[in-house]
Amino acid sequence: MKVGIVGAGMVGSATAYALGLRGIASEVVLVDLDPALAEAHALDIAHAMPFASGTSISHGDYDHLRDAGVVVIAAGVAQRSGETRTDLLSRNAAVFRTVVGEITRVCPDAILLVASNPVDIMTQIATAYSGLPNHRVIGSGTILDTARFRSLLGAHLRVSPRSIHAYVLGEHGDSQVLAWSGARAGTVPVALFGAQIGAPVTDAVRAEIDSKTRNAAYTIIKGKGSTYYGIGAGLARIVGAIRQDEQAVLSVSSVTALIEGVRDVALSVPRVVGREGISTELLPDLDTHERAALQRSASKLRGLFEAVTL
Ligand code: LAC
Repeated sequence: MKVGIVGAGMVGSATAYALGLRGIASEVVLVDLDPALAEAHALDIAHAMPFASGTSISHGDYDHLRDAGVVVIAAGVAQRSGETRTDLLSRNAAVFRTVVGEITRVCPDAILLVASNPVDIMTQIATAYSGLPNHRVIGSGTILDTARFRSLLGAHLRVSPRSIHAYVLGEHGDSQVLAWSGARAGTVPVALFGAQIGAPVTDAVRAEIDSKTRNAAYTIIKGKGSTYYGIGAGLARIVGAIRQDEQAVLSVSSVTALIEGVRDVALSVPRVVGREGISTELLPDLDTHERAALQRSASKLRGLFEAVTL
């Protein structure tokens, strides 16, 4: 499958690198306002392919996206130290008007995979601009937050993150909701498993894991200016589910008809992802605190979207 990536900054190029290393795409084309940047990243990543896979890595303009099955949108400005993701909204909304129009002109059948922040609102903007059905416009959403949550829980419980089943819901941002009530190690609730192995999930442990998950990006941005490896791998994971028609359950963002009383809002819940995009969503069984937090997150996102002039 051919994958286009619009925006050859650190997130776009890290995504291309992750796709190439794992051999998820047959061809990756990088497009950027700065062709020299796209060319340089494409060349550098192509030089890694003899050690990795037969993926063809190239750069070009929008017309080179033709026949792409998925187009990743990583264009726009990135969060700087001291900024929240929603601080980027007005600048990136303006970028999307051109970017989404060009992508749908060249490959109207491609699934759009949005990475630009604030990703939930940018997903809803891309859905509006593209005219595509909701299920074919996917935002990376909380796929990275969920990975962070699982990694921290796995470290505490001394099991692989792959054996932790837990999700972060709602906004990929400050109002995200860690769904502790459904978190399992294998099939065992994490609190019960922690007690069994002498690693109790105390209130202090929960608070630490929540803070480290919720604030991970701020910590990384403070240290090196931006995040890209985690999100690049998360985007490659979503592309893999599409390419394999995996029907994988992933916490990704998409315009949701109704969630906790809020209509038409893009946010993350667990969703089944395959060749046609999202086939269904799984509304988790949450406790009253989690439902209230998800309602607040959905309301925040809906309010921010309504303030955008399309
Ligand atoms: C992060 C960026 C992708 O959470 O928002 O690392």
